[in-house]
Amino acid sequence: MNEEKAQLATAADQIFYDVFKASPIGIAVEDMEGRPLFANAALCSMLGLSEEEMRNKHCTDFSPPEDAAKDGALFAQLRQGSIDHYHLEKRFFRKDGTLIWGRLSISLMQNAAGSHPLVVAMVADVTEKRAAEEKLRQSEAKLQMLTGQLIQAQEVERAWVARELHDDVSQRLVLLALNLDRLQQDLPPSAEFTHEIAKARKEVEDLGNDIQGLSHRLHSSKLEITGLARAAASFCKELSDRQKVQIDFYSENIPKELSKEVSLCLFRVLQEALQNAARHSGSRHFQVSLTVASDELYLIVRDSGSGFDPVEAVKGRGLGLTSMQERLKLVNGNLSISSQPHSGATIQARVPLTPRMESARTAE
Ligand SMILES: Nc1ncnc2c1ncn2[C@@H]1O[C@H](COP(=O)(O)OP(=O)(O)OP(=O)(O)O)[C@@H](O)[C@H]1O
Ligand SMILES: [Mg+2]
Repeated sequence: MNEEKAQLATAADQIFYDVFKASPIGIAVEDMEGRPLFANAALCSMLGLSEEEMRNKHCTDFSPPEDAAKDGALFAQLRQGSIDHYHLEKRFFRKDGTLIWGRLSISLMQNAAGSHPLVVAMVADVTEKRAAEEKLRQSEAKLQMLTGQLIQAQEVERAWVARELHDDVSQRLVLLALNLDRLQQDLPPSAEFTHEIAKARKEVEDLGNDIQGLSHRLHSSKLEITGLARAAASFCKELSDRQKVQIDFYSENIPKELSKEVSLCLFRVLQEALQNAARHSGSRHFQVSLTVASDELYLIVRDSGSGFDPVEAVKGRGLGLTSMQERLKLVNGNLSISSQPHSGATIQARVPLTPRMESARTAE
C-alpha cells in the first residue's frame, strides 16, 4: 500500500516538474533569502540567462534599483510573515542589458513539516502591453492638449465675432435707426410711407437687440466684470425671457476670485446644459444651482422633461455633451449626467477649488 502511495507521489511530482518545464510563463523557485534555486526554460529565455547563471544571482540583481527596491520591500513583508503573496509589475534586465517589463507574482510555498519554506516566482512578459499602454497615454495626452487648444481657439474666435457684432454691426444699426427717425421727422405726418418707415424702424431696433443678445452669448464681458454667479443668473434671466421658460436659479458662497478658466468653463457648461434642456427635454421649467461643498464647486442643471440615455447621446453627432466633458477635464473637473428616458435629466459639473480661490472665498 505504502509502495503504491510512493509510486503515485513520484508520478505526481513528475507531472508537476513537467508542467514547470513546459510552462510558457516564467517560473523560478527561490529560497527565503531571494536566491533562485530552479528556473524554467521560459524564464531563462525571457531573460537570456541559463539556469546556472540565474542561480548565481540574487533576486535584487534582476532589476534596476528603483524596481528592485519596491520588490525588496514586499519580499521583506513576505519573510516577516505579514503577507503570503504579492503581485508587482517591474522591469527585468536581460543578459544583453536591455530591459523588459514583467508581471511578477510571488507566493510563499509551505513544504512538508520540518523543511524550509520556499518562494515561487512567476513572471509574464508584459513588455508589449506596457508599450501599447504608454503609446495610448501619449496619444490621450496629445488629444487632450489639442482639445484644449481648439477650445481656446474657439473662445478667441467667439470673442472676435462678439466684438465685431457689438462694435460694428450694432453701431451701424443704431445709425440706421437714427436715419429712419430723421426721415420720419422730415416727412409730413400724412405722407404715404410714414407707417412703413415706423415699421422698418421697429425692425431695426429688434434686430439690434437680437444682435446684442447674440454678442453677449458669444462672449460675456459680464463674466469678467461681475463674476460667475451674477453672469450665470443674468444668463438664466435672459434665456427665460427669450425662450419663455421658467428657470429657478440658486447660488451660494461662490468665490469672486475664481480663475478665468474655471468661470468660463462653468459658464459655457451652463449655457450648453440649459440650451439642451430648452431644445430637447420638452419641459419648460428648469432648476440651476451653483454651490460650493468640500472645496469643490458644483453646477447642477435639472429638468423634468423627456430624459435621455447619456451613453448613447455622447456617441451621437452633437458636440455639446462632449464639449462640456472636455472643458471640465481641462480644469480638473468632471461631468456627470443622471437621466433615464421619461424621467428628466440632471447635469452636474464638479470643479475642485484651488487653495488660492479658497482663501479668497467671499459670498456674493
Ligand atoms: N436635457 C436633455 N433632455 C433630453 N435630451 C437631451 C438633453 N440634453 C441632451 N439630450 C440629448 O442628447 C443629445 C446630445 O446632446 P448634445 O448637446 O451633445 O448635442 P446636440 O444638442 O444635439 O447638438 P449641439 O449641442 O452640437 O448643437 C441631444 O441630441 C439630445 O438627444
Ligand atoms: Mg447641445
